Amino acid sequence: MRRKLLLGNWKMNKTVTEAKEFASAAAPLLELAKAHHVDIGIAPSFVALEAARKILPPDFIVSAQNVNEHDHGAYTGEVSIPMLKDIGIDWAIIGHSERREYNAETSLACNAKIKALLSAGMTPVYCLGESLATFEKGETKSFVAHQLEEGLRDLTPDEAKKVVIAYEPIWAIGTGKSATKDIAEDVIGFIRRSLRERFGAVAEDIRILYGGSVKPNNVREYMECPNVDGALVGGASLTLDSYEELLRGMI
Ligand code: PGA
Repeated sequence: MRRKLLLGNWKMNKTVTEAKEFASAAAPLLELAKAHHVDIGIAPSFVALEAARKILPPDFIVSAQNVNEHDHGAYTGEVSIPMLKDIGIDWAIIGHSERREYNAETSLACNAKIKALLSAGMTPVYCLGESLATFEKGETKSFVAHQLEEGLRDLTPDEAKKVVIAYEPIWAIGTGKSATKDIAEDVIGFIRRSLRERFGAVAEDIRILYGGSVKPNNVREYMECPNVDGALVGGASLTLDSYEELLRGMI
């Protein structure tokens, strides 16, 4: 049985002070989540990770939004895996479409990060998804299959099992125009079949999230889809009320 997962991607929002306020108020939600077998987490900016980690109970996931694949060295502005581990962070979002767009991250670059995270015993959340143009051309599945192949290249089934995938159509991110639940289930079902072809039975254990304008009023629809294991949520994860409503919509 795959556990459901709600992960809030805060992007470049919230100061450390604001993150602390949210974390203190959100901590009690873990009990509700646990009672319904849902994992919950947030992905604050790098500077707020340590403060959030210290406030939140250990089972409340605190994830980075990116990481560099090198342990140390001359990479100005980057943050390494040992730096994250040192402050108790063991999850990282990889390949978010905004990083692909603004930081020219490729799926092969994501592959290097995913491998580095897995060797360090950390959990990567690998994001993929197509642009509006690709969607309108009807090429979503071939596009996503390519991102999946490159991002998870050379992984063993045991490693693949530890990755969380997030399907986020770019045209649905921050636009208020979410993919219908049928689209989400169709593409995520396709992703699971591709994972099964490559990695075998472990595909049934790999969590695949939907992301893109998930809101308290539509989260339940996605959760009803057999292949959708949770949500990666941007805007609607920023206030505690909305975050709690998202959780309630998943239980
Ligand atoms: P959104 O962002 O929920 O604001 O659309 C989702 C994401 O980018 O992860």
